[in-house]
Amino acid sequence: MRNFVATKIQELRPSGIRKYFDIAATMDDVVTLGIGEPNFVTPNHIMDAGIDSMRRGETGYTANAGLIELRRAISDYVHRLYRLNYDPKTEVLVTVGVSEGLWLALKAVVEPGDEVLVVEPCFVSNAAAVEMVGGVPVPVHTSVEHEFQVTSEALEQVITPRTKAILISYPNNPTGAVLTCEHMQQVAAIAEKYDLVVISDEIYERLVYGIDHINFATLPGMYERTIVLSGMSKAFAMTGWRIGYVTAPHYLMEAIFKLHQYLIMSAPTMGQRAALEALEHGEDDVQHMQSQYDRRRKLIVDGFNQIGLTCFEPRGAFYAFPDIRVTGMTDEEFCERLLLDARVAVVPGSAFGASGAGFIRASYANSDENIERALERMHRFMLQHG
Ligand SMILES: Cc1ncc(COP(=O)(O)O)c(C=O)c1O
Repeated sequence: MRNFVATKIQELRPSGIRKYFDIAATMDDVVTLGIGEPNFVTPNHIMDAGIDSMRRGETGYTANAGLIELRRAISDYVHRLYRLNYDPKTEVLVTVGVSEGLWLALKAVVEPGDEVLVVEPCFVSNAAAVEMVGGVPVPVHTSVEHEFQVTSEALEQVITPRTKAILISYPNNPTGAVLTCEHMQQVAAIAEKYDLVVISDEIYERLVYGIDHINFATLPGMYERTIVLSGMSKAFAMTGWRIGYVTAPHYLMEAIFKLHQYLIMSAPTMGQRAALEALEHGEDDVQHMQSQYDRRRKLIVDGFNQIGLTCFEPRGAFYAFPDIRVTGMTDEEFCERLLLDARVAVVPGSAFGASGAGFIRASYANSDENIERALERMHRFMLQHG
């Protein structure tokens, strides 16, 4: 029998994150800073809205693009935060998380062989999603020396006549970097100069610390050429409800919507009801969780710096990204030994692209107690290996 699995899928590398969780799952007493999701439970009133909708019998599909009430609420929310005007009927789509939105956005714009500039280190799905839609992911490197900001020079170096799009995700997973206004303007200038579409994953937009988030579409001339992805997962502690959204100008949204219609029908109905409640009445919850993350951010960053793992200050998301090169190990060796010797699970930076090599990602979406335990264990580990 021949191998039925498509060559492209055979060649696809598995996510570099899984390996450490698989080992950790076989061990006792592991403190894990590996997981990229909130450790809060969805606030009760949001949960109730989802449960109530099911009890009312709303267990069928919704309109393909999502409940119109929810699309209106998303449009109002984006307007409240950024003064952007997206028509809820034609420029807002409710998706199954940013995960779906990412694939739709890429599929809608990428022709076979088109190159997509993937600013890295970044979310593990980014390059894979480009490949799966038939495009060619072209890494754009960032470095700790520039606080993981993408520059126009770095973009320009890899642009070719096949370049179609730039994929950015700030606040960034895994580094916690937030793109400054000046660097956003550099990206915008390149997009304009080479006539590129920008896909901006802003899922961590509400988790910023001492700094304001700028929606990429607010930059002059960018609304027309930007697809913004966001959703409920991180800020509202709703990863399992699987609700995200895409905002884009009508001509791009038409294409994105067609794909969504055939692929998904509609995002989960109970999740949409919960998302509506979250957007209308969840602001205090967001503020509360944001302030908790901020406190833990300081705890972990100070802790890493004190034990000899230099860590630049992350201004967004819920990740710290310390430099482990002082140990003389690769990030993969470091993670494996840290797990086996000290029972702390973190993720090697190179799992997020070559620019992440020599760093580790530690999530502080965790209890103070666990963060402190992890730091104590890592301190002992560093005394042996630092
Ligand atoms: C940068 C980034 N984008 C997208 C996602 C996935 O988000 P969602 O749960 O909305 O699919 C994640 C999850 O870790 C992420 O870190």
